[in-house]
Amino acid sequence: MSSRLRVMTTALLLLAAIVAAEGRFVWAKEAGSHTGVALQTILEVEQTARLLAILLDSGRSVINEHQALFDEPGKSDKGLTPEVFERQLTDMFRSRSGIDLEDLNASRVPAQAKKLMKELVVVSRQVVADAQPEINRLHGPKGLLPAIFGARVASRFTERTGVRMKQTTLVPRNAANAPDSTERSALELFADPSYPREKPISETTAKSGMLRLMFPLYTTRRCLDCHGEPKGTLDRTGYPREGLKLGQNAGAISVIIPIAK
Ligand code: HEC
Repeated sequence: MSSRLRVMTTALLLLAAIVAAEGRFVWAKEAGSHTGVALQTILEVEQTARLLAILLDSGRSVINEHQALFDEPGKSDKGLTPEVFERQLTDMFRSRSGIDLEDLNASRVPAQAKKLMKELVVVSRQVVADAQPEINRLHGPKGLLPAIFGARVASRFTERTGVRMKQTTLVPRNAANAPDSTERSALELFADPSYPREKPISETTAKSGMLRLMFPLYTTRRCLDCHGEPKGTLDRTGYPREGLKLGQNAGAISVIIPIAK
């Protein structure tokens, strides 16, 4: 066996072991020496994508937890200032990932992840700052839903970093959130109630030069005000409810990161 072949075989065995251990889908034959991208790089980019998805979802959850407050009549200051938001985002992210955003430099995450996470926090905070009139408005619809927040953050983040993020689901309310074929296959797996909780699915292809990761989302009580039962009845945003149940999969965050060779 030539040494090049041996290196490749080792890389493939390692990948197979990772897939077996963690259930991730890596397009093994296209990773490693074929693409000129080191396996280590792919694993780091994958970790970065996963952390970004958890961070965006943490911001969505903070907004989601404030929904009742947005509805409180007669209260013109809802108290969700950019500072309050960032503190709650930091707490939520720490409890979900074990990573302290205030001490990011000391944490053992890839350098790329640190840079992108800082950027995502800046952008999330900006979106909350710009939405203050919407958040505090006394009359009319309250605009800052988790999905609206997520879409605004994602679009600014893409502008600044080239990393794409999107919230998607099999039957979306907003056509802009419709899944492409890669996203659809992952969503179909997530929809199976026996699919393990919060386990992302990722793939890297030589052709695209991208790492793609899908991170599943689940309903909390608050989401059900709009996405729960009775199915078909209109929620307060005017969309028919999906009839989801507590803890059920509600779609995913899709992350696409270009891989530098
Ligand atoms: C106040 C009502 C409301 C709440 C609460 C709410 N959503 Fe939504 N959700 C919406 C609306 C409206 C849209 C479509 C937004 C748009 O126009 O892009 C949406 C869109 C989405 C999407 C994007 C796919 C699509 O259908 O366009 C996902 C995923 C989603 N919601 C999941 C959740 C989850 C999970 C929660 C709880 C953490 C939640 N939502 C809480 C109203 C709500």
